[in-house]
Amino acid sequence: MPDDYVPRAEDHFTFGLWTVGNRGRDPFGRETRPPLDPVEAVHRLGELGAYGINFHDDDLIPPGTSASEREEILKRFRRALDETGLRVPMATTNLFSDPVFKDGAFTANDPRVRRYAIRKTLDAIDLGVELGAEVYVMWGGREGVESDAAKDVPTALDCYAEAINLCCEYVLDRGYDLELAIEPKPNEPRGHLFLPTVGHALAFIHELAHPEMVGLNPEFAHETMSGLSFHHAVAQCLWADKLFHIDLNGQVPSKYDQDFRFGAEGLRDAFYLVKLLEDAEWEGMRHFDAHAYRTESADDVWDFARGCMRTYLILAEKARRLAEDPEIADALLTAQVDGLSERILPEGYSPEAIAALRAEPVDLDVLAARGYGHERLDQLVTELLLGVR
Ligand code: GCO
Ligand code: MN
Ligand code: MN
Repeated sequence: MPDDYVPRAEDHFTFGLWTVGNRGRDPFGRETRPPLDPVEAVHRLGELGAYGINFHDDDLIPPGTSASEREEILKRFRRALDETGLRVPMATTNLFSDPVFKDGAFTANDPRVRRYAIRKTLDAIDLGVELGAEVYVMWGGREGVESDAAKDVPTALDCYAEAINLCCEYVLDRGYDLELAIEPKPNEPRGHLFLPTVGHALAFIHELAHPEMVGLNPEFAHETMSGLSFHHAVAQCLWADKLFHIDLNGQVPSKYDQDFRFGAEGLRDAFYLVKLLEDAEWEGMRHFDAHAYRTESADDVWDFARGCMRTYLILAEKARRLAEDPEIADALLTAQVDGLSERILPEGYSPEAIAALRAEPVDLDVLAARGYGHERLDQLVTELLLGVR
């Protein structure tokens, strides 16, 4: 049987070193898989048809590495990139593993920690740019608190803004071609995290010194943890021209951050998301911030990686089929989906236009009584997804 779901570089699928390299540790149990050599990760992802690989500074250069070892690591990694053609489109910093960050990094109460966090971030920006990254992701790993008595939230947000502003100034000063993408998350590892949702982050960006340089890296799992629609969150990012990057995975609402294989949970939201990105012809990276179940062996990890990409491609094909399905087209007409693009006052506001609107005859009984046919439409989409149309 021909297989149309083989990933190609132009699909722009990327993974993190920490995703395929995830060793299966959880709060209750130690690692179930051996360490993965970053060079092997590059080769395996290249064979599977991925476009790129991303990393936190510490994923590639472990803390404590000497200058000569650093050069050796970079040389091997660069060679693997050259051999496979894989790119490094995004970079990020680990501001959460080291105990020094236990009270946060950019929002730690101790200014010495905040200064160290900035140093570490600027070094990671240099490393990322050196390897070709055009997006820098800011996930506030431990920016948050458990005991509210211990943290003044508005002041913490001032600190957060100060740090991001400094990063922007640095990028401008160095002349880097780099955009910053904030990644919201409601909780975990802290009891509460700052900038918990896409909406909080979008509002925060407008308080920054360089709002044009800062956008979003929304994650499927993180919005879903709060019971929110990821597809709606991403739609609002696109609407605001702020979708700079995306973290795709699978997640059940109201649970811990599961980071499952894309589509493993939330398949319907995943479908509308893929449709949204494809309809918008969004050019960014389809990054999978997910990892294999703890039950899996080192070899099984590649089934996980292949699965993320295949599910995306299958859902993209379903989205194309939806657009071509005559019965669905008819149901969309009944739902009057196209009516939404009609403006109330195409010529804009004028006292005359408002007077005309007030004079317009309107039969509220007719409007109230009409049906929109959503049951039929939704069932048709369900059947399309289930593969019977
Ligand atoms: C998480 C986050 C991270 C970030 C990564 C990049 O909840 O663990 O999603 O995986 O995306 O640190 O900054
Ligand atoms: Mn996550
Ligand atoms: Mn993420």
